[in-house]
Amino acid sequence: MAYLKRENISSIDERANIIQAFIDKEIQEGGNAHDRYLENGPSTLINVITEHSGSKKECILWCVNHYLSLNRNENVIEKTCNALRQFGTGCGTSAPSCGMSSLHKEIEKRVANLLGKEEAVLFPTGFTANLGSISFLAGSRDLIIFDRECHSSMLNGITLSNAKRIPFKHNSVADLEKKLNRYQDSYEDILVVLESAYSMSGDLSPLMEITELKKKYKFYIYVDEAHTFGIYGDKGQGYCYELGVSDEVDFIMSTLSKATSSVGGFLASQHKYCSLLRWSDAYTFQACLTPADAAVILACLDEIEDNPDMIRELHAKNQYMRNLLQSKRFNLGQSQSPIIPIMIEDHNKLRMVVNELYQEGVYSTPIVYPAVKMNEGRIRLILNHAHSKEQIDYTVEALEKICKKYQII
Ligand SMILES: Cc1ncc(COP(=O)(O)O)c(C=O)c1O
Repeated sequence: MAYLKRENISSIDERANIIQAFIDKEIQEGGNAHDRYLENGPSTLINVITEHSGSKKECILWCVNHYLSLNRNENVIEKTCNALRQFGTGCGTSAPSCGMSSLHKEIEKRVANLLGKEEAVLFPTGFTANLGSISFLAGSRDLIIFDRECHSSMLNGITLSNAKRIPFKHNSVADLEKKLNRYQDSYEDILVVLESAYSMSGDLSPLMEITELKKKYKFYIYVDEAHTFGIYGDKGQGYCYELGVSDEVDFIMSTLSKATSSVGGFLASQHKYCSLLRWSDAYTFQACLTPADAAVILACLDEIEDNPDMIRELHAKNQYMRNLLQSKRFNLGQSQSPIIPIMIEDHNKLRMVVNELYQEGVYSTPIVYPAVKMNEGRIRLILNHAHSKEQIDYTVEALEKICKKYQII
């Protein structure tokens, strides 16, 4: 929690006491995310265990980003088991000191080909891909202009860079242009940092208009496609590709923990920029992802290539669920992607709705400050390919019943 950082409150003890009291109160009132875990790996129907009571509850799961549900795909599991036998477990070191295997290299090549970029650089997680790259690309003579709703991994990278940093209003091309215009000649390089689909709001970026600004101003664009890689574009090439602006985007980043159900992250760019990124600390001083993780990614890329219909099916389900929720007058904000937020301003009501949903066998988490602004609380439902029509209908029915009780709809 940002407001529990050292500079805001005096001591480690004081901060620990505040957070402990908060967790204890939540557990007493019906649930805390840190007190719950899954009995088995994620799928759309899971058993959730509550640690302090030892109780178990069967729930429909709405919190994971396995958009294509490939974590349970038999081909993916089979190929991964084979790779584990052939390549062993961990790599034991970072890429420049011989951590890379043929599996890792193949991911870099396939991702670059898919996105139409010269090259890609593979990092062990999406978080460190952002943190390591952004902090390495920009320095004290540069300016980073970033969307206010950028993910924490990007914000931390921006802070670490020592560059001057200025946010622009969420998805506002006009505000971005105002800032580009004002600071155009004041810095050596300007890096504009944003996401293609925002993780807390599910809305898409106006990337066409933003890339158009390159005709008037000089700057680099860095786009995080964590929530669009694998599920936008006819073959999962991502949202920049779908809009036809990939060439204008200098750095396309994505995590590999969502549509490709593994861990890892990459940056795809020009050959020389990838060479530069290979000198970043996050690339040089961090162990490579394990061969099994790499094998999952390759097997998922095979599945997407062989069955691109999965992408269309996911979007059809997304449309179905949105129409249903909107017909019941739920406020879904500006969302469009398979991240479906249900806006509930009042934090107390929000927590009660989430707890009662859990009792009904629907598992979601409340999204509150600092993940979103104060008074912008929401439930976030993340749609996966394996969610059935019955699971969607049941969830919407439960939401309707509970939200009517609290006069949210
Ligand atoms: C937009 C965005 N970027 C980066 C990340 C970090 O990726 P990972 O969790 O795979 O390290 C996330 C994770 O939720 C994300 O939503």
